Amino acid sequence: MAPKENLSVQADQPTILVTGGAGYIGSHAVLALQKAGYNVIVLDNLVYGHRDIAEGVLQVKLVVGDTNDRSLLDNLFATHKIDAVMHFAAYAYVGESVTQPDKYYRNNVLGTLTLLEAMVAAKISNFVFSSTCATYGVPTEVPIPEDHPQNPINPYGATKLMVERILADFDHAYGLRSVSFRYFNAAGADPAGRIGEDHQPETHLIPLVLMTALGKQEAVTIFGTDYPTPDGTCVRDYIHVSDLADAHVLGLQYLKKGGETTKFNLGNGNGFSVKEVIDMAREVTGKTITAKEFDRRPGDPPALVGSAARAREILGWNPQFADLRAILSHAWAWHQKRHG
Ligand SMILES: NC(=O)c1ccc[n+]([C@@H]2O[C@H](COP(=O)([O-])OP(=O)(O)OC[C@H]3O[C@@H](n4cnc5c(N)ncnc54)[C@H](O)[C@@H]3O)[C@@H](O)[C@H]2O)c1
Repeated sequence: MAPKENLSVQADQPTILVTGGAGYIGSHAVLALQKAGYNVIVLDNLVYGHRDIAEGVLQVKLVVGDTNDRSLLDNLFATHKIDAVMHFAAYAYVGESVTQPDKYYRNNVLGTLTLLEAMVAAKISNFVFSSTCATYGVPTEVPIPEDHPQNPINPYGATKLMVERILADFDHAYGLRSVSFRYFNAAGADPAGRIGEDHQPETHLIPLVLMTALGKQEAVTIFGTDYPTPDGTCVRDYIHVSDLADAHVLGLQYLKKGGETTKFNLGNGNGFSVKEVIDMAREVTGKTITAKEFDRRPGDPPALVGSAARAREILGWNPQFADLRAILSHAWAWHQKRHG
């Protein structure tokens, strides 16, 4: 499909800059923003993002560039009337953040700081930020509430916690108000099958299970079967990416109405074990999925499940696809289309 520029632009509608909008969660947020009537501009350096998704499927204006590029940002803010920024752009490979922390602090912290400084200079004061449950570290309480202590156990989680702190300070100093969303495990795909998850390399369980179902890899690895969980494998809270995207639109509207800087967990409050995910994927796909058991990986907490009661109460967020079967069905439809 030929790239078209911002077909849905309406002069009287606010324009939102979506950094990382050619990536997995950001592209679903673009869809949700377009559906809610916003104009969208995507800024993505395409290190991990997909031009074909941004320009071809979403038909959004794509600026290929980096959040560390201050002159590009100044130019962008000078030439477009941007009402708010949704910031998804970051590196998010936990293991790599341990071996190359400099890469993560530079991109995730300095890149965000540069963006925030440019926003202050351009007098843009509403910011929605992708934080993570990895800021909590090993939980002492499950489901995890927002006021749980934050002790990240890897540089990736530390970069996100640093940004949360920067955001509190920028509100105090410059009146830049923000919503930080601490996602649990984003999963699934657009229910209409237009976009979905396509990380290269892929480290997330559900796409790896589905790539195994497609015969693209031999087996899926289960790291650790002796955790203190019902079946011994790690338990995680899977949240549908379209539900995440909807929360971002609500977060934006909350800020536009004058809401104060705050943080919300986004999860379903239900945990599923690795084995439960694999079993459900066997049911949904009807395929043989071979699983191989290995030792635990260092740094994997037994269970990470979030309480999203605050987001429901304050934003009126109401996830539509809390069911693991729906999450896997949407992801499977997308995987067959993209990788089959
Ligand atoms: N996927 C999850 O389960 C999950 C969970 C918690 C938090 N998050 C956070 O959500 C955000 C989006 O995650 P995702 O899974 O969609 O990742 P993704 O890699 O698919 O998307 C990130 C996008 O940002 C772009 N990018 C990275 N650094 C950039 C920079 N400096 N300038 C411009 N573009 C840049 C990449 O090219 C990519 O398109 C990230 O901030 C991540 O840390 C994700």
